[in-house]
Amino acid sequence: MKQEFKPVHGMWASRWVFILAATGSAVGLGNIWKFPYITGEYGGGACVLLYLVCIAVVGIPIMVAEVMLGRKGGLSPIHSMQRVAQQSKVTRRWGVIGYLGALSGFLLLSFYTVIAGWSLYYVWEGASGVFQGASAEQVQAVFADLKASPWMMLLCHTLFMAMTMGVVARGVNRGLEKAVEILMPVLFVLLIVLVGYAATTSGFADGMRFLFAFDFSKLSGEAVVVALGHSFFTLSLGLGAIMAYGAYMPHQIKDSKTGKAKPVSIGSTVLVIAVIDTLVALAAGMAIFPLVFSNGLEPSAGPGLMFESLPLAFGQLPGGALFSCLFFILVACAAWSSSISLGEPLVAWLVERGWKRWRASLLIGALAWVLGIGTVLSFNIWKDDTFLMGTFFDNIEFISTNIMLPLGGLLIAIFAGWIMKETQARKELAMKNFKVYMLWRAVVRIFSPAAVIFLFGWSMWSTFGPDEEPAKGPPAPVEQQQPAPARAADAPADDARVPAVSEGGVNE
Ligand code: PFF
Repeated sequence: MKQEFKPVHGMWASRWVFILAATGSAVGLGNIWKFPYITGEYGGGACVLLYLVCIAVVGIPIMVAEVMLGRKGGLSPIHSMQRVAQQSKVTRRWGVIGYLGALSGFLLLSFYTVIAGWSLYYVWEGASGVFQGASAEQVQAVFADLKASPWMMLLCHTLFMAMTMGVVARGVNRGLEKAVEILMPVLFVLLIVLVGYAATTSGFADGMRFLFAFDFSKLSGEAVVVALGHSFFTLSLGLGAIMAYGAYMPHQIKDSKTGKAKPVSIGSTVLVIAVIDTLVALAAGMAIFPLVFSNGLEPSAGPGLMFESLPLAFGQLPGGALFSCLFFILVACAAWSSSISLGEPLVAWLVERGWKRWRASLLIGALAWVLGIGTVLSFNIWKDDTFLMGTFFDNIEFISTNIMLPLGGLLIAIFAGWIMKETQARKELAMKNFKVYMLWRAVVRIFSPAAVIFLFGWSMWSTFGPDEEPAKGPPAPVEQQQPAPARAADAPADDARVPAVSEGGVNE
């Protein structure tokens, strides 16, 4: 039976607001926490270059496809996909892309708010001066104590979830739009201040050399997979978040000079978002590595870079209390503008089914919160209860980011490249340059699916291949094949080991 869905959510006020919102979704823990640490682990500049290539040749084309599907459908990812499938005269079962995205976004939300909650705790700790002059052991103890305390983690998780769903509940214009209009400028200003601060430290030149000197001997097959996977994660692809935001993107804007309506091109808009997202990741590296080098710490400290090495570095620097506090406010803002995009697809779907937005937000928030308790406990009470991939959190994280995310990206590329009517795609994209359009089409049909299959295959092989031990303790998802011992300069070897972290968090 055919169902008609009316767009009920509103539209972004302008193309720039869409750019701000999508950039808000893209810029998150992936940029400020994960990008610097994988760059540190995989050899600096060469990894940066690889990441830039992945963003350009896979990330941007798939993002264009995702925004296009969202704008064409004009609804939540689930209904948008069903609708576009119908318009392309294929089965509505393609709606599975929307279901998959909404579900994986939900799983991601459940642990994203737990990890993001840590940044709130660190704002507090930073402001109270705990890191000032602290030793490596003391800084590590702060992190260890936080992870050992289910109640503190639950409090931070609850706060972050409330902040997230509180915004989603207010709707597109009064909630999401208002939030990104405040959060993103704050984020940019803080980032500039922190890079400026890093520039005054003695390790600035070393930090810059580390980030931008391309030493190709350090490149490995694993680095390619990590960079490819991260380009998906950082651009928020494959989970429906960008599709949901695309649905609120206007088709036309008024030309400021002529006053006439002109089409909003998806390609150039996505390009701006990808460039800003990349610049933020690079700037985060520019803010972090100089501090690491100034203090003689290891850039390859792994995931503990942000929660252990960095507070330690701040603690040794003049004005460190203030700047560590600002740094973690930056992390919280970035994570907040991302987490709201994780909540939106399912809430929008329920609203389209007749739910009140605040009720839908409450329900989705409550369910994700309950699931998040599993992640909270994975760091303490359930730490040793491992199955399949490791702890409860390892499983949720692995399934959402290593399986569902690439699968979502693959299906989006296949649908946009092979299934959707070409005339519709061309019209929706409103690309002026035909050659660019043809290039996009070729990439999305052939290259992107091939790259995603490669990523997926490698991820599965490195996890379940013959050399891998079955789930004994936390597994080694692609990103963490070599959990690097983070060694604070003066810490004894045993104590200085940083826990291994997978994409969304840290495992013991
Ligand atoms: N792009 C976000 C980050 O870099 O932290 C993470 C993310 C948000 C992924 C929203 C996917 C998503 F739908």
